[in-house]
Amino acid sequence: MSRLIQARFSLSRFSSIASSRNVRFLSTESNKTDEPFKVEEAETVNMPPPPTEKLLVLGGNGFVGSHICKEALDRGLTVASISRTGRSSIQDSWANSVTWHQGNLLSTDSWKDALKGVTSVISCVGGFGSNSYMYKINGTANINAIRAASEEGVKRFVYISAADFGPVNYLLQGYYEGKRAAETELLTRYPYGGIILRPGFIYGTRRVGSMKLPLGVVGSPLEMILQRAKPLSQIPIVGPLFTPPVNVSAVAKVAVRAATDPVFPPGVIDVHGILRYSQQRSV
Ligand SMILES: NC(=O)c1ccc[n+]([C@@H]2O[C@H](COP(=O)([O-])OP(=O)(O)OC[C@H]3O[C@@H](n4cnc5c(N)ncnc54)[C@H](OP(=O)(O)O)[C@@H]3O)[C@@H](O)[C@H]2O)c1
Repeated sequence: MSRLIQARFSLSRFSSIASSRNVRFLSTESNKTDEPFKVEEAETVNMPPPPTEKLLVLGGNGFVGSHICKEALDRGLTVASISRTGRSSIQDSWANSVTWHQGNLLSTDSWKDALKGVTSVISCVGGFGSNSYMYKINGTANINAIRAASEEGVKRFVYISAADFGPVNYLLQGYYEGKRAAETELLTRYPYGGIILRPGFIYGTRRVGSMKLPLGVVGSPLEMILQRAKPLSQIPIVGPLFTPPVNVSAVAKVAVRAATDPVFPPGVIDVHGILRYSQQRSV
């Protein structure tokens, strides 16, 4: 009995709360079916926008970097670049879709602002000169970038390094020591999201001022021959001289995939790996 009283009391309390708050209930009573049923509009919730991939290309105005920017735009990514001269002399229309930052990875910290909101970085910064200059540009500049990106929480970092060239390594000591120092830093800071591409000679159309150099005239046939002569590249000392050249579009495709595909394996990818990945349909 007491349960029955309690149940009635709860029901009447519930209905008075409901009427005081102007809440409507569905009813099976016949006299209520003609009333128009008012649908309350659902409250909108502020959801964050879907995550987007934002790629920062270091050296995006260079030979390899510009192909990477274009490839990333074709894949629908948001693309920015940092280099000492900014956009430089690139006239192509795709370049209007890139955010060009001017900055020197070896000097002030101002370029670090460009890392805000970036999900992955591809570094194409490198160059030749005296041994100490080569160490700085291939090593120190990239080490600075790797540290800043990891501190900013960037998830993936791809570094365009270079294949060993046997005896040539001794002539370009600063270049190779710089490359390997940057690689070590990358593998330490990015054990799961760090990818090192080690191409040999990269061919394609390279701009020098207003001129276009068609490096493929030599590179393309050499690639065809040397790709099939892999055992030659394993000969001690001179073997690395038989490293096949690789097309700049292939390097760009693999770099962008490595920067955005969460299951792309971390670590070093040699020339044969670059050629293999670039031939995969999903690339
Ligand atoms: N091309 C090849 O055959 C080949 C082969 C194997 C490996 N690689 C490697 O691939 C990478 C790209 O080569 P690439 O041929 O495209 O060279 P590149 O055309 O000379 O491009 C180098 C880029 O780095 C930028 N840069 C240089 N110093 C900088 C600094 N301190 N701060 C910010 N940006 C800087 C340059 O722009 P600014 O001058 O405007 O700063 C330029 O955009 C290099 O690391 C190279 O060693 C190239």
